[in-house]
Amino acid sequence: MIQLIIANNYEDMSKKASKLLISRIKDTIPLNLGLATGSTPVGLYKELVTEYANGNLDFEHTRTFNLDEYIGLSPYNPNSYSYYMWKHFFSHINIRKENIHIPPGIFANEQKVIDDYEEAIVQAGGIDLQVLGIGANGHIGFNEPGESLSVSTHIVELKSETIKANSRFFENKDEVPKKAITMGMGKIMEAKEILLLASGKEKAKALAQTVKGIVETHCPSTILQIHPNVKIIADKEASFLIADRIRASNNCILFSSDRMEQYG
Ligand code: PGA
Repeated sequence: MIQLIIANNYEDMSKKASKLLISRIKDTIPLNLGLATGSTPVGLYKELVTEYANGNLDFEHTRTFNLDEYIGLSPYNPNSYSYYMWKHFFSHINIRKENIHIPPGIFANEQKVIDDYEEAIVQAGGIDLQVLGIGANGHIGFNEPGESLSVSTHIVELKSETIKANSRFFENKDEVPKKAITMGMGKIMEAKEILLLASGKEKAKALAQTVKGIVETHCPSTILQIHPNVKIIADKEASFLIADRIRASNNCILFSSDRMEQYG
């Protein structure tokens, strides 16, 4: 079941998302938090860092598991997702280093890396809350559209549209890695709760498909329809194709923004 919450704009989306996370961080101890990168959650991390700086949050008992990483990039590469996470979030809060999990982009033994990542999630007791962005092609993490979707952590060839979309972070398109390691769709679906964020009109088509399209591997985000506890916070631009049409269906309920106050 998807609950869709429409935010006024990017800032409002980030604030609403941070309210939900703050509530979970305070209430669930320890909390196993699945995290995403990209431009979408930057504002969310900023809000959480501010709350921490104001003395309102403690990450002592939070464990994090990131969705993905580019193959071939070390944590010191400014384009790696590890670098991103330290820059936007980890270096500003009191999370313990041993509680941070990000799939490595450089490794000798692929299978060991995959097994270790899966095992770390199992050992922690599974993910309580998974934060997600969405690709314009409906990808989740780096689970790209295709004939099938993987359950477990795996290596993927990135689609040309993903390389093109992500090239905005690189000096030129040729520098964008062609492969990534990503948590599988199965593991993502095992999270107890999922929070998907979407901002901007380039996400509108994928978002519309996510909430009311046919569930299919060619749009991985549609799989979320069969998860029991998904919240989507989307800004007006990202939701303009659906906001005035969806009130309630079998798979999705449109929540008024006020309902988010309960997380505050
Ligand atoms: P974005 O990426 O937040 O940079 O738009 C999201 C994604 O591709 O999953």
